[in-house]
Amino acid sequence: MTETPIGLRPKPRAAIERMAPYHPPTSGRVGAMRLDFNENTVGCSPKALERLKQALTGELLATYPEYEAVREKAAAFFGVGADQMTFCDGTDEGIHILIQTYVEAGDEVVMTWPAYPMLRFYAQVAGAEPVLVPYCEPDLAFPLDELLAAIGPKTRAVLVANPNNPTGGAIGLADIERILEKAAGAAVLIDEAYFEFYGVTALDLLPRYPNLFVSRTFSKTYGLAGLRVGCLFSQAENMALVRKGQSPYSVNVLAAACVTAAIEDQEYVRGYVREVLEAREELLAALRRLDIPYWPTEANFVLVHLGDKASRVVEGLAARGIRVRDRGKERVGAVRFTVGTREQTAQLIAAVEELL
Ligand SMILES: Cc1ncc(COP(=O)(O)O)c(C=O)c1O
Repeated sequence: MTETPIGLRPKPRAAIERMAPYHPPTSGRVGAMRLDFNENTVGCSPKALERLKQALTGELLATYPEYEAVREKAAAFFGVGADQMTFCDGTDEGIHILIQTYVEAGDEVVMTWPAYPMLRFYAQVAGAEPVLVPYCEPDLAFPLDELLAAIGPKTRAVLVANPNNPTGGAIGLADIERILEKAAGAAVLIDEAYFEFYGVTALDLLPRYPNLFVSRTFSKTYGLAGLRVGCLFSQAENMALVRKGQSPYSVNVLAAACVTAAIEDQEYVRGYVREVLEAREELLAALRRLDIPYWPTEANFVLVHLGDKASRVVEGLAARGIRVRDRGKERVGAVRFTVGTREQTAQLIAAVEELL
C-alpha cells in the first residue's frame, strides 16, 4: 500500500543543492594496514589510552563535557592564552566555524588546489565561491604569486594547509606573511594538521596578524582521529566571535578527558615522528630505486606518480590488506602513500615491487 504524501518536502538551500556529496572511502579499514588517510598507523599514546579507560564511567558519559581546565593546559602547551584558542570537533569543525563566522554566501574563499577536500566543502556549504589556485606544474610547487593575485576585494577567507595534503609540500613563514599582508581584512587559515612532521608553525605570528588563524589536530601524529579533536587559534577578539557560533559541547567528553594526557606524552609524539621520518627516507630511497616519480614531502605521506599502473597497484595492495589512496581524480596516475612505521613501509615497498 502506498501512502499519500501530506504536505510539501522542505526545499534545501541552493548551496546544498549545488554541492556534490563527499564520500571518503571509509569502510572495513580497522585491521587493514591503513596507509590511506595519513593517520597514525599504530595507535595513540598508551598513557592517553590509560587516561581514557580510567575516565570512562557511566557518570562521565551522563555529564556534558567541561573544557576550562583542559583548555588552560592545552593553551600553555601551545604557548597561547586560553582565550586565543578553542577545541573543536576535529579540524573540520574549526574550518566550519571559521567560515561561518567570516564568510557570507557569494563571498570568495581562496585556496590552493589540490587541497584537503573539506576546505572547499565548507566554503560550498556556506554558499561561497571557492577560488581554486592550482599548484605549479610539473613540480607541484606552492603557487605563491598566483595565490596573491587571486586575493581580491571579495576574498573573505584564504585557506592554506601547511604542509599541504595531498601534495606534501610546505611553505615557510616569509610566504605566510606575504599572504597575511595581501589578505588583510580576510581570515587566513593555516591548517597545520601535519605540523609535527614539518616543525614550522605560524602560531608565533599570532600576536602580529589580526587576520591569522591556525589549526592543529590530534587526528594525525597523536593517533586520536576517532575521537575527533583539534584546536583553532587566533587573537582573543577573533576567538570570542568564532566561539559565539560554536556549539558549547562540540568536543565529546572522552576527547576532553584524554587530550591532556596525549599532550603530556611528548616522548610518545617524538618517538612516533622519528620513526615516520626514518621510514619516509626509506620509502623515498625505494621509490628512486624503482624509478617511481614522487613529489617532495614534509608530511607523513608521499604523493607518487604511478601513471597507468595506478589502479593495478592500488587494487593489488588492497588485496594484500594494504590501503593506499588513489588521487587520480585530482591528478591522473597519482597515488598517495601514508608513511607508517619502518616495518609497515618495508611491507609496502615489497608489495609495490611485486605488483610492478
Ligand atoms: C590538511 C588537513 N587538515 C585537516 C585534516 C583533518 O583533520 P581532523 O581529523 O582534525 O578533522 C586532514 C585530514 O586528512 C588534512 O589532511
